[in-house]
Amino acid sequence: MSAEASSSRYTAVAIALHWAMAALLLFMIWLGWNMEDNEGRFQLHKSIGITILFLALARLGWRFANPPPPLPEGMPKREKTASHAVHIIFYALMIGIPLGGWLMVSISPFQVSTVLYGVVSWPHLPFTEGLRGETLYGIVEFFHSKGAWVIIALLALHVAGAVKHEIGAEDGVLKRMLPGLFGKANAPALPARGFLFAFGGSLALFAAIAATSLLSAGPASSAPAPLGATSSNANWTVDYAASEIKFAGLYEGKPFEGTFATWAADVAFYPEALARSKVSVTVDTRSASTGKKLYDDTLKGREWFNVGDFPEATVVLSDFKQATSGYTATATMTLKDKAVSVPLSFTLDIDGRQARLNGQVTFTRKALDLGQGSDPDGKWIGDQVVVTLSGRAERTQ
Ligand code: HEM
Ligand code: HEM
Repeated sequence: MSAEASSSRYTAVAIALHWAMAALLLFMIWLGWNMEDNEGRFQLHKSIGITILFLALARLGWRFANPPPPLPEGMPKREKTASHAVHIIFYALMIGIPLGGWLMVSISPFQVSTVLYGVVSWPHLPFTEGLRGETLYGIVEFFHSKGAWVIIALLALHVAGAVKHEIGAEDGVLKRMLPGLFGKANAPALPARGFLFAFGGSLALFAAIAATSLLSAGPASSAPAPLGATSSNANWTVDYAASEIKFAGLYEGKPFEGTFATWAADVAFYPEALARSKVSVTVDTRSASTGKKLYDDTLKGREWFNVGDFPEATVVLSDFKQATSGYTATATMTLKDKAVSVPLSFTLDIDGRQARLNGQVTFTRKALDLGQGSDPDGKWIGDQVVVTLSGRAERTQ
């Protein structure tokens, strides 16, 4: 590097990245040790970790475009080599640890989705489906958690080196990395370059990966075709705006609730001829919404609704019988090609041609094969799921 092309200081961008990432890394290690059974912290850990991954890539690109100032002349060669080695290992860790974390959540037997900062759905690493299991998870976890200790050990060396050269005989090294306010005010600052290359490149990669999640989820379709629509003898028209299919359960002992936004019903119901009656409901499983993106994304996953392979679930009501208040029927839910029948009781308030229905049915996650990999015993998410149907319809025949 020629004399006029060198400065004794890092660029402001390199300095900002250095201190911001140092703080984030230390916070992440603390968070990693203090997030057990705390889903909020766990998601934050994943969010900041993925941020660190892309900041590290941007930082590498920046360093490539803006090489660091040369080390002081008087510094022994072996110390220069040690300092470079520490920097290289730091970069390897700043990329390797988050990549390992991403691999862990991708292959974990607990298939929990990642939603960065509660907003961006983050996909699992591609081609990792066949790798899922405890053994590989254990190995990656070992490197992930020991990596944190390597950061701590290297940090001790790194800080000791910086302090030694600051108070030692050579030109101060610490000042090169301190913001202008504290550093050498008279040190020439080189014009920085490569902003677009470093940050644009990293951001573009981030956006491309985030977009794959959007594409694979697919748009929730418009109302699915009701079962047997063509051959049906439907005699009621459902008022969808005034009707709702809700599901409710317990998560860590606290109630949660959601709705299916998109569904269609084919209602053939004759209070005067119950044997002829049959109701078929087709539900778009992609439209399940709980108001929390993390839950919605998790529900779409393979071990829950598996919306990629089974975008629709169906509920068929049959065997209607009059009860003391209202009616009973058998509700057969078919989800992921598996049918489960449970009793349903509902009330029907008929007023002329108008009717209002209210019913409730309880399924178990076990029977429906929902979340059986992550939580088969209902430790976090209760086994019972209550589905509530409420709606308004008008009789046409
Ligand atoms: C530079 C970034 C990161 C650092 C410094 C870091 C650090 C840590 C630490 C110290 C732990 C505790 C390990 C232990 O129990 O001893 C941990 C756990 C964990 N981290 Fe990270 N992490 C980072 C990024 C990530 C990312 C990006 C993800 C996922 C997207 C992730 C996923 C996990 C998981 C799943 C665990 C729990 C492991 C288990 O106990 O089974 N981490 N992390
Ligand atoms: C986990 C925390 C830290 C990490 C990962 C880290 C990483 C790095 C890396 C990779 C470099 C090379 C320059 C670059 O490419 O940006 C660097 C330089 C530097 N760091 Fe850190 N650092 C950390 C914390 C600290 C702390 C606490 C100090 C305080 C003494 C410090 C002082 C310096 C100095 C003075 C330089 C310039 C050294 C030189 O150019 O030879 N760092 N650091």
